[in-house]
Amino acid sequence: MPLLPLRDLRCPLDGDAMQRQSSQWQCPKGHSFDIARQGYVNLLPVQHKKSRDPGDSKAMVAARKAFLDSGFYTPIATAISQLCTDHLDTTAPLAILDAGCGEGYYLQALCAALDTPEREIIATGLDISKWALRACLQRNRQLNGIVASNRQVPLPDHSQQLLLCAFGFPVYREFARLLAPGGLYLQVDAGPDHLLEMREHLYPELRRSEAPSIQEGIDTIGPVLNEQRLQFTIDELTHQPLEQLLMMTPHYHRASPAAQQRLLDSAPLPMTADLVLRLLRVDGP
Ligand SMILES: C[S@@+](CC[C@H](N)C(=O)[O-])C[C@H]1O[C@@H](n2cnc3c(N)ncnc32)[C@H](O)[C@@H]1O
Ligand SMILES: [Zn+2]
Repeated sequence: MPLLPLRDLRCPLDGDAMQRQSSQWQCPKGHSFDIARQGYVNLLPVQHKKSRDPGDSKAMVAARKAFLDSGFYTPIATAISQLCTDHLDTTAPLAILDAGCGEGYYLQALCAALDTPEREIIATGLDISKWALRACLQRNRQLNGIVASNRQVPLPDHSQQLLLCAFGFPVYREFARLLAPGGLYLQVDAGPDHLLEMREHLYPELRRSEAPSIQEGIDTIGPVLNEQRLQFTIDELTHQPLEQLLMMTPHYHRASPAAQQRLLDSAPLPMTADLVLRLLRVDGP
């Protein structure tokens, strides 16, 4: 079944329900928001922008897309999709939100896995970076795209059956507000050995991080249904994918240029992936 367009959006300025009128979303108080040519709507109020171009840059989004499209993280997409298909009824209509969706690789994989002939799906990618949304909707124009922050998501209370936050910036109170009773929340984080070889080259004094801790406040959402660790090794990363991977991580801003060059000069390099996937269910039917 085709993915469906969003029916409900809230005005970011006053929270009123908006109506879609051709290429705009309009609120009863007269605020209106254009739908960009690329298909997304920018609902990030100017006063919530911490910079002129918030979130991942155009170059970072392009690097992430190239790396993910090469298939190096397929096991993560498969694990996300498997966990969700295992815990969702196959026929009930589904609203999915990917909070901090980046260029939409996991949202697209999830929709492909959850799509059945009977099920209606409204899938929304939200990110603070307009570049991310452009790439996400280029991947699949049937996805809905919102530029906004996880701190203030312009969607109605209890409207989402599934919320994904992968390598992102979770805001639990907001996520709890968005999730429907019985809804699922899936969070994917780096585990202690994630990209160990990269970190060893960037920071020779590296100490392994502690075991992954439960994130403070995550219990606002509900009880943990499933927690799993996913570890795999990428055999050999050549210079280009290694550089793309570096650009996907906080080390791209954190490590010195000399350290980044040292890392890239060491290609080809094997790379450990170590992830923690946590699935929670909101109380309710
Ligand atoms: C590490 S990337 C992960 C992207 C995607 N989930 C993935 O795993 O491929 C983090 C993303 O969060 C976005 N971001 C940063 N701050 C945000 C916020 N406050 N609200 C929503 N997205 C945010 C960035 O623009 C970036 O696309
Ligand atoms: Zn308004």
